[in-house]
Amino acid sequence: MIRVRKLPDIKILDEKDKRLRLISKEVTFPLSKEDKKNIQDMCDYLEMSQVEETQEFYDLRAGMGLAYIQIGIPKRIFVVVDEVEEGKFDRYVIINPKIKSSSEEMIYVGEGEGCLSVNRDVEGIVPRHARMTIEAYDENGKKFDIRVREDLAVAFQHEMDHLDGILFTDKIDPKNPFKNKEFMREL
Ligand code: NI
Repeated sequence: MIRVRKLPDIKILDEKDKRLRLISKEVTFPLSKEDKKNIQDMCDYLEMSQVEETQEFYDLRAGMGLAYIQIGIPKRIFVVVDEVEEGKFDRYVIINPKIKSSSEEMIYVGEGEGCLSVNRDVEGIVPRHARMTIEAYDENGKKFDIRVREDLAVAFQHEMDHLDGILFTDKIDPKNPFKNKEFMREL
């Protein structure tokens, strides 16, 4: 018998679900047990979506980030799980984020952005800042600053948009999906 880690029981909303359009609310501390469990589950899910064995076993699409509203809860929380080396993951839990500064330089993901709530390929450019400093709170309510760049910066901006009810597909002009390409660096 093959033993595979159990997939957390979370249901990710599809883009057609109106709840994804809500503006999520600021979080107050301490977090409830339920919030902590959901955060853990979202991180575990993302990690398992990136590990080949569990990705194949559960037929998952690889995802790097999830916002709390994607499981139906309109609170300003998102998580990002970044594989820094084979099998080693950094987990970011970001609560009530505020942008402190962002680079003038803009970038975009050449192969297009993806989202676990958008179950189709969408081509086109989503302009993102190449670097950004964000102020946020951790799970214990402690304030911290974090500086992100490149693909991590893209992931953070994508997830922050979810907190304001914005999907990456909103940022692509369907009539001209590669508009302003020459002013941005491809990732
Ligand atoms: Ni998304």
